[in-house]
Amino acid sequence: MASVRVRAWRSAYRELLPAEYLAGLDPAELVAGWTPLLDEPERATLLVADLPGTGVVGFTNVGPYRQDDGTLDPAYGELRSCYVDPDTWRNGAGSALLHASVDLLRAAAPRPVRLWVVVENDRARRFYERFGFAPDGATGTFDAGDVSLRTVRYVLPA
Ligand SMILES: CC(C)(COP(=O)(O)OP(=O)(O)OC[C@H]1O[C@@H](n2cnc3c(N)ncnc32)[C@H](O)[C@@H]1OP(=O)(O)O)[C@@H](O)C(=O)NCCC(=O)NCCS
Repeated sequence: MASVRVRAWRSAYRELLPAEYLAGLDPAELVAGWTPLLDEPERATLLVADLPGTGVVGFTNVGPYRQDDGTLDPAYGELRSCYVDPDTWRNGAGSALLHASVDLLRAAAPRPVRLWVVVENDRARRFYERFGFAPDGATGTFDAGDVSLRTVRYVLPA
């Protein structure tokens, strides 16, 4: 999963983040940060796309919506991460993950699902819009290294 994320970042953010920053991304550091998540299934659930013969080619991280103050709002689900290895893009893995993620977030009851996406990430925005997500007007920023990228929030109605 960590190497999928590093490879996806290097492709998706090639024009947006400094080359040295992207080259320095280390899957081992991500693994250390993510491992505690596995013990908190009520806060976050990780789904993987596993291609027979290849292994993990993508993953998502979903859970209740994280508010600015760090508390969770279970009235909304949140897609916190959605990454597919660039070698596998446009083969349906992302859509399969997105369907499974939304189904999981709505397993107990229908609720809107939110996500944040970088403004210039046209590929991801098109992907979410085709699924039915639309911007809800909220904006934010996402810091990576010394760079701050603008983000917009999308919502999929219940
Ligand atoms: C966004 C992302 C998750 C999509 O993953 P994916 O596996 O390529 O998704 P899919 O293959 O299901 O769909 C992608 C496109 O391929 C098309 N597609 C899917 N299967 C296809 C096939 N067999 N033949 C032709 N086209 C196909 C889909 O219609 C879709 O088109 P659209 O983007 O114009 O709507 C992936 O590009 C990614 O990891 N990007 C980098 C990370 C990122 O930006 N994540 C989001 C952060 S918020």
